[in-house]
Amino acid sequence: MGGEPYYGPDFGLLQRQDPELAEVLLDELERVRGGIQLIASENFTSPAVLAALGSTLTNKYAEGYPGRRYYGGCEVVDRAERLAIERARKLFGAEHANVQPHSGASANLAAYAALLQPGDTMLAMALSHGGHLTHGSKVNFSGRWFDVVSYGVRRDTELIDYDEVRDLALRHQPKLIVCGATAYPRLIDFSVFRGIADEVGAWLMADVAHPIGLMAGGAIPSAVPYADVVTFTTHKALRGPRGGAILCTDELAGKIDRAVFPFIQGGPLMHVVAAKAVAFAEAMRPEFAGYARQVVANARALTEELAGQGMRPVSGGTDTHLALIDLRDLNVSGAEAERRCAAAGITLNRNVIPYDPEPPSITSGIRVGTPCVTTQGMGPQELKEVGTLVTRAVRHPAGAGEVRERVSALLAIHQPYLSEY
Ligand SMILES: Cc1ncc(COP(=O)(O)O)c(C=O)c1O
Repeated sequence: MGGEPYYGPDFGLLQRQDPELAEVLLDELERVRGGIQLIASENFTSPAVLAALGSTLTNKYAEGYPGRRYYGGCEVVDRAERLAIERARKLFGAEHANVQPHSGASANLAAYAALLQPGDTMLAMALSHGGHLTHGSKVNFSGRWFDVVSYGVRRDTELIDYDEVRDLALRHQPKLIVCGATAYPRLIDFSVFRGIADEVGAWLMADVAHPIGLMAGGAIPSAVPYADVVTFTTHKALRGPRGGAILCTDELAGKIDRAVFPFIQGGPLMHVVAAKAVAFAEAMRPEFAGYARQVVANARALTEELAGQGMRPVSGGTDTHLALIDLRDLNVSGAEAERRCAAAGITLNRNVIPYDPEPPSITSGIRVGTPCVTTQGMGPQELKEVGTLVTRAVRHPAGAGEVRERVSALLAIHQPYLSEY
């Protein structure tokens, strides 16, 4: 690490032509450089990913799929999408890949559209126990258009209650079972879900938006061998551009492709598709396996340190890139802890914990994740320090200035987006 900051493609040009907007970009860069980023769903893409995102491919309309477009002049962008598809298939060992979903939510909408009719029953994890909005929340299309039955975690272990999943599946005979979560720190046993889906004749979808990067790097077991459909985001632990993607069996390829286009989307974002191809290639490199393992080791070090200092991790720990911390014993709400950490230069988010007595705007917990800090080159030793700093920030708001100084010292060594990134 060291040298000149990297500001993205042609930043100087933007500065000359639109200084007002350029300042926003600079300020955002300064913001991330000025604090420790523990948001579990964020990461820092490589400059190569940013270069593809900032490319002329953004100009091209390419409705359809490679070789089957509804616009002329697609032969060049076809190559980008073919690369993205082939790399995704190879990286994850999947029969089919659709790389066009604009986001994780769009990928889920497309998967549901491929497998369900409005009013059909699906079984998914409750938002309040770690599931995502698109897994059946009433404020989301999924909860409005489908008959959603929710499962959760056990009160004693705070782990997914597989017996409950099976009982609910037998009772409600869902057409689709969704596994995967947005705030679940433990491994999910996809083989158990597969068995339950087979028992009731349901499709199995794994929404692995969060841990897909860890799966790509072989740090945790993959969902691909078990699920009929796997949806994911490319911008979290995978470290690619903001976007979504879907993997599925050959049997479902046509249904999934037709659900993405023309059912829910129009023209794909070809610059993003190209950037996904770059990210998939990066994730195939041996260094990425090391990164993925380091993310998990770092999350464990951070969680152990927090636990050691009285910050109780939900389920007792983590197997992945994130941990949920229950703050009830400290008498500090998640919202207040988020504010206190922000004042000390640490960005994280409040998060409901299972059986949370507080509403989602307040919460009793925080969520912490290590994809960003690992990309910055931090290791378990630094994460122990980060655990101490988070604890201090939450427990002693008056000492925020002191914590901020130690944050700055850590960041002086570990900064994102330097030229030797
Ligand atoms: C499990 C899960 N699914 C889907 C999504 C939605 O992704 P996006 O925000 O790209 O729509 C998220 C985002 O956090 C997620 O955690």
